Amino acid sequence: MSQIHEKSPQHCAKKKLININKHHKKLFYTFTTFILSLLLLILVIWFILHPTKPQFSLKEADIYQLTLSRSHLLNSSIQITLLSNNPNQKVGIYYDEIQVYASYKGQQITLDSSVPPFYQDYKDSNLLSMVLVANGLPVDPSFGYEVGRDQMAGRLVLKVKANGELRWKVGTWVSGRYRFNVNCVAILPFGQSVPSGPLTSKGTQCSTII
Ligand SMILES: *[C@@H]1O[C@H](CO)[C@@H](O)[C@H](O)[C@H]1NC(C)=O
Repeated sequence: MSQIHEKSPQHCAKKKLININKHHKKLFYTFTTFILSLLLLILVIWFILHPTKPQFSLKEADIYQLTLSRSHLLNSSIQITLLSNNPNQKVGIYYDEIQVYASYKGQQITLDSSVPPFYQDYKDSNLLSMVLVANGLPVDPSFGYEVGRDQMAGRLVLKVKANGELRWKVGTWVSGRYRFNVNCVAILPFGQSVPSGPLTSKGTQCSTII
């Protein structure tokens, strides 16, 4: 004689009902999870597409030194002040890494200078001041000739470039890293005589690429 575990048919029916309920619950949870995931995905995509890229401007650039040795080794000292601005209403920016250098006629004329990582709240701005230098940096033999030509023209065109990585912050959600490039063109008046002070340029808008 086999043992009957179920005490009564009624109990059996109850169990089935529970099973159906469980099944419905599972379906309900799956459906809800699916809808929520979809909404979250739409939200994330919207926020990724939505942020406006940060704005940079070169408040000031001063060339203190730009001397070339006979063996085409350059000593340079350029002080710059970059204004960084987050134009977004609801999106904060983590700047994980920014490398800044100066370039002249497509040639890097200072070493990279790193800006320590910082967080920029929405609608916030930061001033980044630094001295870009090089000591005995090898440059193309045409460098001296190009500077001479610029002096004849009365202006020196200098580029300040920044490369870095940023992350967007929306509420508590933080995006992955995005590379960005900043390009500023400074035009410095450059007279025929040896200047007494530094060559200075003020207020240049920069372009940002993400
Ligand atoms: C560059 O700097 C080094 C070290 O400070 C110095 O020895 C050299 O003469 C400088 N070169 C020029 C062209 O001023």
